[in-house]
Amino acid sequence: MSDLANRVADTQAILARIAAEYTPAVFASSLAAEDMVLTDLILRANLPIGIFSLETGRLHKETLAVLDAVKAHYGHDITLFRPQAEAVDAYVAQNGLNAFYDSIEMRRECCRIRKVEPLGRALAGNKAWITGQRRAQSATRSDLSTQEDDPAHGMTKFNPLADWTEEHVWEYIRANNVPYNALHDRGYPSIGCEPCTRAIQPGEDVRAGRWWWENPESKECGLHVVDGKLIRIKSVAA
Ligand code: ADX
Ligand code: SF4
Repeated sequence: MSDLANRVADTQAILARIAAEYTPAVFASSLAAEDMVLTDLILRANLPIGIFSLETGRLHKETLAVLDAVKAHYGHDITLFRPQAEAVDAYVAQNGLNAFYDSIEMRRECCRIRKVEPLGRALAGNKAWITGQRRAQSATRSDLSTQEDDPAHGMTKFNPLADWTEEHVWEYIRANNVPYNALHDRGYPSIGCEPCTRAIQPGEDVRAGRWWWENPESKECGLHVVDGKLIRIKSVAA
């Protein structure tokens, strides 16, 4: 088997195991390339795994267009979770619409209101959740496991693409004609909210365009907390 075929077989086996042993389980899709691979694998195998997206209210129109592309290609509606309007209104009234550029605290508070709180609602009542995170994406993910405990949400968390490379992702998308976010063809390998994401230059780190005004070590939005910490940098032996 080719390298990609091996990865696909492993991922299909993990997804089948989740569907058999961890129902109800849900997959959190940001609608970016990795998440489209998992969407394709889940929907084509007809697995009983719900798919949701956190619609922060600040996504690019190209990202929102992926919802329609999924509907057209697979006949499937991705469930949307939105922030509480009162919390967004209070934050904006007090701090302005773009206060996340002012400090890490302001940025994390915006992510908390627009992503983390809605994530809690999306996960409630499930036994497991699935993400599209990969180890190679950033310093904060270098120690990522395929399966981990998520005490913050009281369930198991799976990262079935943990050992996929960016090349595997794109080889899969092209080979299987998977719909994807048009921004990926315009220099955006990693896509979050519109004001907090920009295109990168050739040779730059794939997450260099996310919260580009912050240090690499702080660039997590709070969706992925392990042992009370946001980051999982592999410790280097002295
Ligand atoms: S993050 O920094 O925004 O958390 P990234 O965009 O790399 O990171 O996404 C990593 C994983 O988090 C995605 O594969 C997906 O599982 C989940 N995720 C991120 N953003 C969203 C979103 N808006 N809706 C649902 N899941 C999301
Ligand atoms: Fe707010 Fe930016 Fe976080 Fe989106 S990524 S929730 S706009 S701080």
